[in-house]
Amino acid sequence: MRAKLSIGLVAALLGLSTAALAQSLAAPTYTTAQARRGEAVYMAQCAACHGDQLDNGQFAAPLVGPAFEAHWGAGGLDGPFEVMTTQMPPTNPGALPAATYADLLAFVLDRNGLPAGDKELPADPERLKTMAAPH
Ligand code: HEC
Repeated sequence: MRAKLSIGLVAALLGLSTAALAQSLAAPTYTTAQARRGEAVYMAQCAACHGDQLDNGQFAAPLVGPAFEAHWGAGGLDGPFEVMTTQMPPTNPGALPAATYADLLAFVLDRNGLPAGDKELPADPERLKTMAAPH
């Protein structure tokens, strides 16, 4: 009983600090054209594992929805960008140009329901760090 209560408390506190940190980060920018470019690469290179709906892959973690938000939502976009650029696709990690990884991340943001704008998502981890991951 006591253990359960304190786990609940820790979860509540984590939730609070997550929300506070996410608020201090800017909303990401990306364009619809960029997300469309990312979609084409995604369907060719990523969908086989992550699924064409981004959460229906048999072989990989979901890139939309609660699990993705729980994993990255407390921080900036540099986290998922780093996984992409250093580990994806697993058969050829880091093989794509940095701008293509930014296009892929723009597509992921689009599918997570974030609004597109008139500035592209940058491929620079330092700038991505200042932009909030979907949360
Ligand atoms: C061969 C199957 C496979 C392919 C193809 C693949 N991935 Fe992955 N991906 C994985 C697996 C497995 C994980 C989980 C890795 C882990 O947790 O250590 C993962 C994790 C990720 C994550 C982190 C998700 C999270 O919340 O932890 C991202 C982002 C990602 N992949 C993006 C991509 C992108 C973009 C592509 C296409 C360029 C791609 N992946 C292609 C198997 C794949």
